[in-house]
Amino acid sequence: MGFQRFNTCFLLTLCILSQGLVKGAFGFACNWGLRSTHPLPPQVVVKLMKDNGFKQVKLFEADPGALKALGNSGIQVMVGIPNDMLESLASNVNAAIAWVNQNVSNYISKMGVDIRHVAVGNEAFLKTYNGRFVNATFPAIQNIQAALIKAGLGRQVKVTTPLNADVYQSDSGLPSGGNFRPDIQDQMISIIKFLYQSAAPLTFNIYPFLSLDADPNFPKEFAFFDGSNAPVVDGSVSYTNVLDANFDTLISALEKNGFGSMPVIIGEVGWPTDGTANANIKNAQRFNQGLINRIIKRQGTPKRSTPPDIYVFGFIDEDAKSIEPGPFERHWGMFNFDGSMKYPLNLGGGKPLVAAKGVKYLPKQWCVMSAQANAMDPGLADSLSKACTYADCTSLSPGSSCSGLDTKGNASYAFNMYYQTMDQRKDACQFNGLSVITSINPSPPQSTCHFEIMVDLGVHETRTTTSMGAQKMEIHSMIMLVLSFIFTIMLSLCI
Ligand SMILES: *[C@@H]1O[C@H](CO)[C@@H](O)[C@H](O)[C@H]1NC(C)=O
Ligand SMILES: *[C@@H]1O[C@H](CO)[C@@H](O)[C@H](O)[C@H]1NC(C)=O
Ligand SMILES: *[C@@H]1O[C@H](CO)[C@@H](O)[C@H](O)[C@H]1NC(C)=O
Repeated sequence: MGFQRFNTCFLLTLCILSQGLVKGAFGFACNWGLRSTHPLPPQVVVKLMKDNGFKQVKLFEADPGALKALGNSGIQVMVGIPNDMLESLASNVNAAIAWVNQNVSNYISKMGVDIRHVAVGNEAFLKTYNGRFVNATFPAIQNIQAALIKAGLGRQVKVTTPLNADVYQSDSGLPSGGNFRPDIQDQMISIIKFLYQSAAPLTFNIYPFLSLDADPNFPKEFAFFDGSNAPVVDGSVSYTNVLDANFDTLISALEKNGFGSMPVIIGEVGWPTDGTANANIKNAQRFNQGLINRIIKRQGTPKRSTPPDIYVFGFIDEDAKSIEPGPFERHWGMFNFDGSMKYPLNLGGGKPLVAAKGVKYLPKQWCVMSAQANAMDPGLADSLSKACTYADCTSLSPGSSCSGLDTKGNASYAFNMYYQTMDQRKDACQFNGLSVITSINPSPPQSTCHFEIMVDLGVHETRTTTSMGAQKMEIHSMIMLVLSFIFTIMLSLCI
């Protein structure tokens, strides 16, 4: 066989192969949180991810519905383990083996879920936990890794632990001064060594929004990627945004401890749209568009030119998330709770963000304060308190989208949220005789304040989407079959 022929064959094969690889490789990554009173059906969410070019997703727990929907989706999955399971997993390797069998192996082998990472704990070293999970985290990581190896998944599934950016700091205030927090320094080094030896990544959550929200003197422009008239100068490097500065503080900390080449993932980063003054549509759009632009450009940081995988937080809003950190917690989504658009984004080459399809809603009716009711009614405070204990009133917080309503509008918003959250049950619009059901949309015109109607948990149009999905899958598999056939023939010709 002539060298020429071999060469041509080889090049052609390479060409086909690399095209496949390039097509398969690029994509966005996101966090899918499930703390919602009215979650979208998982298959609608997975479709929404695929429609918008998401190829990786992180779950905070091994939720059966979400994992099932991710089966054969082409989306790679990081499955989380909540902090309250760390203790038992740390103390007993059999608990870790059972966890991996049930929540990883099963989904890979029986449902075609492409699980690539297990995230052990979530921000376990957060200062506000006062060390509660510090001792259990490393042994839990070791046991899960042992369980993955035992299950024959040691190569395919990597263990990691998402940490809050408060595990590192800089005494000089500059990225080059980065090191780990003294109280957890030993734990950090043990974990990093272990992950490094297991060819597994470190994962960090970095939040420019929280930096801005926590510090009234924080230079706002520095939170975004397109501004900053006053860069932070660190030796020969000028930092124009806090994400770069924060990430490089981490890289400095790793370098100082001898792990400069440690692989790193950004496990969470994003911007909320409501709940406090800086959490609004304009800022979120600006931040996330900047973030997406750098992901598309594969832009690294001054200290590390290879960009990390970046998981956006979050994909959709969660109206039942804890608001301990602040009322903005329920508004991190790129999409609203129902998969509708908050703001447009350019996903590269002008490809727009698209909304969820096939979502079914409860009937178009709202619960509001009746026209006859008196804003000074002594029963009002009680009613509001009841409504906002069980439903999400965070959009009424100071600086939020509905904070400009008068007392009656305010009460109507709270009544309606309760009514919707209770699936529009008749008895859910009874507030000491102050409320009434209406079919006229009470949302103030020309405002970002929306009186919502919840997703209907009963009747979803899932039939058409699945059968269309199945059809697409079939065509896709046929193309793959033909391609692999051609590939085999070419290879055999080459040899
Ligand atoms: C995972 O597996 C364990 C068995 O060890 C089980 O108790 C747990 O509920 C499973 N699911 C999740 C979401 O962790
Ligand atoms: C963690 O372990 C250390 C050393 O064994 C011990 O002193 C400390 O009290 C433990 N912390 C917690 C929260 O259990
Ligand atoms: C609106 O309702 C919220 C929640 O009950 C309450 O905290 C706030 O003070 C109310 N604002 C007005 C203007 O009535």
